[in-house]
Amino acid sequence: MPEKNETLVILDYGSQYTQLIARRTRELGIYSVILPFSTDIATIRDYEPKGIILSGGPNSVYEKNAPKLDTNILGTHLPILGICYGLQLLALHFGGKVEASSTREYGLASIKLTDKSALLDKKTDGSKVWMSHGDHVSMAPKKFVVSAMSGNTICALESTDDNIFGLQFHPEVSHSTFGVDVLKNFLVNICKFSQSWTPGSFIDTETKRIQELVGKDKVICALSGGVDSSVAATLVSKAIGDQQVCVFVDTGLLRKDEYDDVLEAYKNIGLNVTPVRAKERFLSKLAGVTDPETKRKIIGNEFIEIFDEEAKKIGNAGWLVQGTLYPDVIESVSVFGPSVTIKSHHNVGGLPEKMNLKLIEPLRELFKDEVRKIGAELGLPDAITLRQPFPGPGLAIRIIGEVNDEAISLVQAADAIVREEVGGSNVRESLWQYFAVLLPIQSVGVMGDGRTYEKVVAIRAVSSLDGMTADWAKLPHELLEKISGRIVSEVRGINRVVYDITSKPPGTIEWE
Ligand code: XMP
Repeated sequence: MPEKNETLVILDYGSQYTQLIARRTRELGIYSVILPFSTDIATIRDYEPKGIILSGGPNSVYEKNAPKLDTNILGTHLPILGICYGLQLLALHFGGKVEASSTREYGLASIKLTDKSALLDKKTDGSKVWMSHGDHVSMAPKKFVVSAMSGNTICALESTDDNIFGLQFHPEVSHSTFGVDVLKNFLVNICKFSQSWTPGSFIDTETKRIQELVGKDKVICALSGGVDSSVAATLVSKAIGDQQVCVFVDTGLLRKDEYDDVLEAYKNIGLNVTPVRAKERFLSKLAGVTDPETKRKIIGNEFIEIFDEEAKKIGNAGWLVQGTLYPDVIESVSVFGPSVTIKSHHNVGGLPEKMNLKLIEPLRELFKDEVRKIGAELGLPDAITLRQPFPGPGLAIRIIGEVNDEAISLVQAADAIVREEVGGSNVRESLWQYFAVLLPIQSVGVMGDGRTYEKVVAIRAVSSLDGMTADWAKLPHELLEKISGRIVSEVRGINRVVYDITSKPPGTIEWE
């Protein structure tokens, strides 16, 4: 983290765009934190912010339980920018009028500058902005200047004496043509941020923080081979070296050659890794099991047992490293009811509770792409930083039905072809995940002069921002044709390939 006085506080009133505000400010080299709107003023002051943004939100200011403006923030005399709902709260507080509407204005609008503005420069005049609101400000408070209108709607208000600003539109949404410039004006010219935050500067401060936190204790880390745990472990290793022991388990459910490749990559980075080969353990427990949730539980329990055994070997480990990211943290401090639930797949099946370890989460303030940049800066190879997300239970949930050696070999071989072909194409960057799923059915085919009766593989490729929703990818037909042709001719035991055209919702990304 940068110096404390280089922080922007974003108070979250529940808008779907709040995370985007944080994204944009980070892209401008300005560190920001998102806090629930109800955060007390002492906590806000602890961040020593240089400015405050009030986000949009789904409520009407007139609703009975609508989130309120904490007027204590005005007492900080910091520059404040209210966006959409945030603007309406400010307008109401300072004596303006907010009018409830029966319909929402949603989509593009163009704005017209109506007065001189510290926030909006000339180029924004006539430009497109993104609107998403029900209520609107129908009368500006006395001390405020209306600096822009969109049709009859007040679009921007400012009181430069008090450094208080409001926008009806969403500058954080990329459809607002000059949105980033508007945010930059507020942050750089009004709040006076120095734009010195970079993912690189994060490494130094975080390294020091971990050293102070951990002292001489031992630290344990469960590596999955994925980006998050690898970057977290590498950062901790930079801070405390071999005081950290990483455990990397070969469940037998990883992708083709993955265990050796990842282990090799870890070796090159100099991580202190204890490899555990446990394929037989996992497969014997999974024999005969077809229910997806039972598979997950068996795998989770086996992980805990192995981890427990390894932790005992290390002795007196006091800390557990986890690769929790910012989107998980934001979700868990949601606007209407903070909770500290960590997503179950982030703690490998409940490890912290069971083992009484304190958590180190060095990435909890970063977004995935920032983590990738930090990984690259720490020297991690692309093979790790650019990996697609891979589920903890591994291929077990991509083999529909019983998991056994034969099924693993089939899905691994098909998946390797999908990865090779999609990975080598120019659509790869637009995809969140792409993989093969082995189905428990056989179909009739004809190869050469002979009849075949073999297994079916489904190809899944999706685009997504965060895995919560996803669109099936419109892969070029030629690419699908190549994948299908290669799988059927190269993977003996598969004679048919289908393509999954279900989005999430209603489907999920994984089949189980
Ligand atoms: P679904 O299938 O729920 O997946 O749409 C959303 C994202 O989560 C991953 N996923 C998992 N990750 N343990 C994990 O660590 C799991 O049990 C699990 N199930 C799904 C999935 O790969 C996708 O990125």
